[in-house]
Amino acid sequence: MRQDDVGNNAEMIPEEAANYIKNNFNKGNIACMTGAGISAESGIPTFRGKGGLWEKYRPEIYATTMGLVSTFENKPEKIVDFLNDFYPFLLNAKPNPGHIALAVMQKEGILKAVVTQNIDSLHQQAGSRSVIELHGNAFRIRCTDCLKTIACEKDRIKEMVELLKMYRRQRLQLLRILSRYFPKCECGGRFRIDIVLFGETLPPDALKEAYRVLENCSLLLVIGTSLVIYPVASLPLYVKERGVKIVEINNEPSNFPCDLFIQGKAGEILPEILKIL
Ligand code: OAD
Repeated sequence: MRQDDVGNNAEMIPEEAANYIKNNFNKGNIACMTGAGISAESGIPTFRGKGGLWEKYRPEIYATTMGLVSTFENKPEKIVDFLNDFYPFLLNAKPNPGHIALAVMQKEGILKAVVTQNIDSLHQQAGSRSVIELHGNAFRIRCTDCLKTIACEKDRIKEMVELLKMYRRQRLQLLRILSRYFPKCECGGRFRIDIVLFGETLPPDALKEAYRVLENCSLLLVIGTSLVIYPVASLPLYVKERGVKIVEINNEPSNFPCDLFIQGKAGEILPEILKIL
């Protein structure tokens, strides 16, 4: 079904997607790729579009090392306010029916793996086991030198954000707080939050694993992503070049040349698909 048909046949589409899945199930593995849209119904703002994070915060400041460091030097309160605005969404979010439907598909052996750009851990919280995080995880810290990672509990992050708020204009105090939560690594390097900023390379092991999954998949579900950030945006094209079918779910029209487009909320469409399978 083409995107133009969606309006007239919306109720038929989950069935068609389910048929795609059924027809391709025996041929190999089904993979899915998710973006911020799947977590929108969990209350986490997306990056682009109306109400998106980048509408309020300029990504060149808040999503690059250079922007963050220089802003922290001059106006540290801007960084503190950003963290205080964004982290509570991540801290309070719970998996929605979209995450849960994917987790069930994975448990039932229908879905092989979830390749995600999201940093919110909601796929894992929903019970998905094989989750490949291409942009890192907001609840993990990483050594900048040896790349060792350590999980960082939500309560600890909450505590850090609360402390930062108390000293939002006092750069030296803020640095002291940050060095407590981002300590030195035993290798001599320093830990930082384990998320990928603009201009940084993707975690090589995760990228390798994503390619391995996508090279073997027989159907790809692309869910809730604007597909504008590379290299992740090139992955579905790579899959398509192999002649593999792609089903896209997005609540806005998309230009991606998928085989089946379902316009709607992931948290509504995915449970519908699961019901039919
Ligand atoms: P975007 O914010 O760019 O796109 C979110 C997509 O989800 C849009 O296409 C929306 O139409 C769609 N959407 C919103 N709500 C939805 C819902 N309930 N169901 C289905 N679709 C919905 O987010 P990403 O594509 O994930 O990277 O952004 C990619 C990367 O850009 C992020 O990982 C982040 C960002 O800058 C870095 O920071 C490095």
